[in-house]
Amino acid sequence: MRIRNIAVSTLAAAFAFGCATQQMEEKSMTSAEKSQPATASAEPATMTGAAIEMLANTCAGCHGTGGVSTGPAIPSIAGLEEEYFVEVMNGYKSGERAATIMDRMAKGYSDSEIEAMAAFYSAKKFQPVRQTSAGPKAMRGSKLHHEYCEKCHENEGRNPEDIVLAGQWMPYLLWTMEDFAVGRSKIEEKKMAKAMENMLAEHGSGSLMDLTHFYGSRK
Ligand code: HEC
Ligand code: HEC
Repeated sequence: MRIRNIAVSTLAAAFAFGCATQQMEEKSMTSAEKSQPATASAEPATMTGAAIEMLANTCAGCHGTGGVSTGPAIPSIAGLEEEYFVEVMNGYKSGERAATIMDRMAKGYSDSEIEAMAAFYSAKKFQPVRQTSAGPKAMRGSKLHHEYCEKCHENEGRNPEDIVLAGQWMPYLLWTMEDFAVGRSKIEEKKMAKAMENMLAEHGSGSLMDLTHFYGSRK
């Protein structure tokens, strides 16, 4: 596939993350160990509020209290659409969705635990991140978004009932889009795969950075 070959690695160089990755690794080890369920089938069908809070505490170490992330490499998960939440967790589990950490994390949870966490986080309100974006890039990104992405990611990617793009952390978004673009993550939605492919063919890999600045500029 042609889009696999584009050189996107340089795009990420514009962001600096300090030592966040190492901290995340350490946290992921301990939380994953703590959270291994004995067997999925041994669980009760419904979980109590207190049990869900306990599960969510494990996530809060990285995703922030109530799912509002304070670190640029980690997405906010407050207000994520419920079905999408389940889908992306299963994608991490199966390896269809590229991950640095969540592949190991997701494997520690049963279907019903993931569903319970999806309900918990989708009920929270998404809070757009305050971050700095570059005007000219954001303007180019706006055009690209409206041409290729708005049809599904409505209201400039900030539809509260949907996948959150506007106001999500920029480095996370850029990596996620690169993973899609080079085929490290599978895009379930065929029309999105087509939109990405067309955009990259016509506007080059810089379009991902432009989109990132556009979404980052949204409040
Ligand atoms: C050690 C840090 C860490 C912990 C703990 C953690 N996450 Fe994550 N999470 C990440 C990172 C980093 C990503 C981006 C994907 C990747 O690189 O693994 C992510 C991505 C996600 C996404 C995808 C968001 C999107 O917009 O697509 C969801 C959903 C998620 N995590 C849920 C959870 C849940 C639920 C828990 C608790 C059970 C949890 N995470 C615990 C670091 C963490
Ligand atoms: C035909 C509808 C459609 C179009 C067009 C589309 N998307 Fe998507 N997008 C989806 C769906 C559905 C998902 C979630 C499931 C999946 O991974 O396929 C998604 C997921 C995403 C995600 C992951 C979000 C996260 O939190 O990790 C990003 C980023 C994204 N799209 C960006 C884009 C960009 C950029 C464009 C335009 C170039 C675009 N999409 C065009 C439907 C679409």
